[in-house]
Amino acid sequence: MIGSLEGKVAVVTGGASGIGRALAEALLAEGMKVMIADIEAGRLERAAAELGIRGVQTDVSDSDQVAALAAAAVAEFGTVHLICNNAGIGPMAALPELTMADWHWMLNVNLLGTIHGVTQFLPILRSNAEGGHFLNTGSMASLKPVPSLATYCTAKYGVLGLSEVLALEMAAAGEPIGVTVLCPGPVATDLGSSTRNRPAELAGGLKDVLLEDSVQFKAAVVDWMPPAQAAQVALGAIKRNDFYAITHPAMIGDVRERHRAIERAFAEEAQRREAQASGREAQA
Ligand SMILES: NC(=O)c1ccc[n+]([C@@H]2O[C@H](COP(=O)([O-])OP(=O)(O)OC[C@H]3O[C@@H](n4cnc5c(N)ncnc54)[C@H](O)[C@@H]3O)[C@@H](O)[C@H]2O)c1
Repeated sequence: MIGSLEGKVAVVTGGASGIGRALAEALLAEGMKVMIADIEAGRLERAAAELGIRGVQTDVSDSDQVAALAAAAVAEFGTVHLICNNAGIGPMAALPELTMADWHWMLNVNLLGTIHGVTQFLPILRSNAEGGHFLNTGSMASLKPVPSLATYCTAKYGVLGLSEVLALEMAAAGEPIGVTVLCPGPVATDLGSSTRNRPAELAGGLKDVLLEDSVQFKAAVVDWMPPAQAAQVALGAIKRNDFYAITHPAMIGDVRERHRAIERAFAEEAQRREAQASGREAQA
């Protein structure tokens, strides 16, 4: 949809670390003009200097700051073709331990952050005769439930729903705008210390627990993919205009189980109704 990436413009949120930084590197290697954005000033400055590009400090949970990012990209490059809504956080806690501050922080960054990126960049992408593309970073937790990740799953299922509707609407309107949702499994990044970016006004008693749990989670899982490999999976999907970008195909099991449960529920209800209807016919 977006065609050749060479010479086109990309903005990557959460670009100072992990998958976002690897995406920026991969897109630069394709000959794109890239701007990165991140909440963390020091890391952003370092990453931008190392990559030789501009970093714009942005908190994606603030719609005005995302609007300012879009304006900065247009001022610098004239337009944007690819927006990677990638910034995210991933602390964990069981449901009874969650505070409302935990919910607000997670939904503000992981769900509203993506919504802000879609809302602010859509008019810019639509104004390009050459087309455009959204890369929204979801998760394997967009596709299957994970215990202790209630806030994360709720946000990431939302990212998937938003992306699905966006793709349908763009296709129905004949807009040359593609959508990819990146659904990573475990990738070796700094997501396990996300609480470093927690705003003071959303501080909760669970901060240290969440951090500890994230670190434990990191130690417990084996197949940690390097961020550069996850970025290549995303890049391939963008080039092919694939909707799903899957980093860990071996993790299909739980996803299939979930889909089968949904299909079973439909089939069983249909069977109950058939049985009721044939019961009524037999009585008549
Ligand atoms: N690492 C994994 O195993 C994994 C798995 C599934 C999905 N993801 C998703 O990948 C994306 C990137 O995370 P990562 O794993 O590279 O972690 P990371 O912590 O290395 O990078 C995330 C970046 O987002 C930035 N960020 C955090 N809050 C922000 C905010 N409010 N505004 C702007 N920037 C903010 C951080 O400063 C950081 O640079 C996230 O959306 C995450 O949910 C990661």
